[in-house]
Amino acid sequence: MTVDIGDFTNWLRDFEGAALLRRTWGDPDWSRGARLDPALVRSLQRFQVGEDGDGAFLTGKAARAGDPVYAAAVRLFVAEEREHARLLARLIEAAGAATLPGHWTDAVFVRLRRLLGLRMELMVLMLAEVVALAYYRAVRDGADDPLAAEVAGRILADELRHVPFHRDRLRWSFRRSSRLTRVAAAALWWALLAGVVAVVVADHGGALRGVGVPGTVFVREVAAGFRAVVAGVMWPSGRSGAGDSGVEYQSGAGHGGTGRAEGAGTAAVRSRGDRGTVG
Ligand SMILES: [Fe+2]
Ligand SMILES: [Fe+2]
Repeated sequence: MTVDIGDFTNWLRDFEGAALLRRTWGDPDWSRGARLDPALVRSLQRFQVGEDGDGAFLTGKAARAGDPVYAAAVRLFVAEEREHARLLARLIEAAGAATLPGHWTDAVFVRLRRLLGLRMELMVLMLAEVVALAYYRAVRDGADDPLAAEVAGRILADELRHVPFHRDRLRWSFRRSSRLTRVAAAALWWALLAGVVAVVVADHGGALRGVGVPGTVFVREVAAGFRAVVAGVMWPSGRSGAGDSGVEYQSGAGHGGTGRAEGAGTAAVRSRGDRGTVG
């Protein structure tokens, strides 16, 4: 079966639905406060900086790509990432700490992304999304604190949608690429992932151990999720990428998401057709 997705209408609806749910749910009860391990606070502070990244460049590139529906979905995606930054900031505050003005890992990441075209930017961004999935899952399942678990669960539910959202655009973007190009791009992508994961484990290893996930387990989980993403983008008609819903990614990563993910992640059906000019 050929999977060639160029229509992002359902993704736009998905993001609108998630925004509506967010407004309906309101905020977690911040007043209960949070008691967090100092290593986890430092780790969350760095992720908070990362979530607060620059959407302006991505939305600009998406707008220039020639598909207003995709561009509108990207704007809502960026809003969700900003919402993650806000939730993490409130959590850090509830734990009695302050947010960081910046962090070198984020500065490098943002600078790199700005230099790239939309397709490469999405490939780099996907690395952050895949790492974020494993990270927030670890915090949701391993943090002793209920507020931290709730915030991580909410963010995780969104990240579970972001991965297939970017995957679909990248799949579309590589639809006419030769096998050689795909193999080379996949090799480069894996090399980048290895670098990113090494930095994350070095930087957040203590916090991850604190929530019961040793570095080796974290690396294995990220790699398993990423393998499904690469297959879904580069070899969509092959054994791992046959699904359209992102479920293959979610089940491949070994979790079922949250109730919110199931409620909001409904962009399962996407039609075919090519639009836009830039991948
Ligand atoms: Fe995020
Ligand atoms: Fe995300």
